Amino acid sequence: MGTDALDLLMPEPYKIKAVEPIRMLTRPERSKRLAEAGYNTFLLRSEDVTIDLLTDSGTNAMTDRQWAALMMGDEAYAGSASFERFAKAVSDVYGYPFVVPTHQGRGAEHLLSKSLITPGDTVPGNMYFTTTRLHQELAGARFEDVIIDEAHDPAADHPFKGNVDLKKFAALVKRVGAERVPYITVGCPVNLAGGQPVSLENLREVAQFCRSKKIMLVIDGARAVENAFFIQEREKACRGWSVARILKEMCALADTISVSAKKDLYVNIGGFLATRDEALFKKAAELCVVYEGLHTYGGLAGRDLEAMAVGAREMVQDEWVAHRVAQVRYLGARLEERGIPIVKPVGGHGVFVDAKAFLPHLGPEDLIAQSLAAWIYEDSGVRGMERGVVSAGRDEKGRNRPVKLELVRLTLPRRVYTQTHLDFVAAGIAKTWERRMELPGLRFVSEPKMLRFFQSRFAPAKVASGRR
Ligand code: F0G
Repeated sequence: MGTDALDLLMPEPYKIKAVEPIRMLTRPERSKRLAEAGYNTFLLRSEDVTIDLLTDSGTNAMTDRQWAALMMGDEAYAGSASFERFAKAVSDVYGYPFVVPTHQGRGAEHLLSKSLITPGDTVPGNMYFTTTRLHQELAGARFEDVIIDEAHDPAADHPFKGNVDLKKFAALVKRVGAERVPYITVGCPVNLAGGQPVSLENLREVAQFCRSKKIMLVIDGARAVENAFFIQEREKACRGWSVARILKEMCALADTISVSAKKDLYVNIGGFLATRDEALFKKAAELCVVYEGLHTYGGLAGRDLEAMAVGAREMVQDEWVAHRVAQVRYLGARLEERGIPIVKPVGGHGVFVDAKAFLPHLGPEDLIAQSLAAWIYEDSGVRGMERGVVSAGRDEKGRNRPVKLELVRLTLPRRVYTQTHLDFVAAGIAKTWERRMELPGLRFVSEPKMLRFFQSRFAPAKVASGRR
């Protein structure tokens, strides 16, 4: 793994053609805005944020070719030429013959869950993702985590920390019966574990097991290109392979892929479900008409389909993903050299700060990562996102789901920020690091039932409660 400073120095493989000004508030202004936003970074106004690392989802800069393609959008209600170009790109790049476009990734998750789940089923996955699990639960299934143990340890330096633990998976299938497991979702890579990849070898073993039990293998491919990059870098059997070839190989092992195009495909909106299973395709296309729009536009404009078609072909060029991961690692290295605790190894889409290690004086009731995200914004105008107990939500009995990881994700939008911006982020977080022992926790003020992290409001705890 290249952690040498010179390895990390990789010039941006693009020139900048249009720019968007950034505002910088004063500290008292930020404190006021933070309080108005209920200490939830999701409720801040974008204009009050200096460097926005909330998410890499839909926040990408498109190429000039993608912008040009927008003009080619065929806005016909049915049978649009843009859909044909999009479907051809998906089949060329991912290798699936059938595709249903959706407004974004969770649209695809909704169609998939509704098409395949019978109430009472269990759907395993390599760690949960918020919207993925919720759609499975809304369709009547129970989610079960079958990721390897290392994924839950921020310090465990495993090259494929996203791998499925086949023993856990097999034990689950034995316990509930293969007929109650319609599919497994394998996130490649695993967002909430820090963007950790799955090896091709592991995917092959999972595929073999799935075939023997007639369980569908579904890849959550929001950032599958980043997973392919890590395979290229770390899996001996794939040395010298292009990212394009590895992505195709990953997809060849799975039956279906569900994609939020707002990540890998460098667009601002869009998603799709692609499969080689004709029965699933027919069912999902039927449901698409009910929930998204006709199956040739899926809630998108023709121009969005054009941008996705170009993005899908461009994303597998090795230099784009190599630069993206180098940028993420650059930020990771700048934080590490200041002693700031982060999840190792650094993943593909962002740096995950270990909030428990950052704020050791706080206990679980202090909503550790939520607090850290708030104080980072207050100190520097850098917006990150909580990935901890608030994101995990409550179980069916209303109890907070226990979490091992309390992380603040600093996610890098693609092709948006420069190295100087990343230096600014590291310096900003260093300010929070310096005053860490005086930082209080947060308490809920209001809490919606579903996906609470988006809209909950908080207030600072009177005093830091102290770990007991
Ligand atoms: N799967 C993964 C792994 C994701 O990271 C996301 C979205 C989705 C599915 C859902 O896709 O947002 O297009 O509906 N992740 C965003 C994030 C929200 O910030 O990580 P969507």
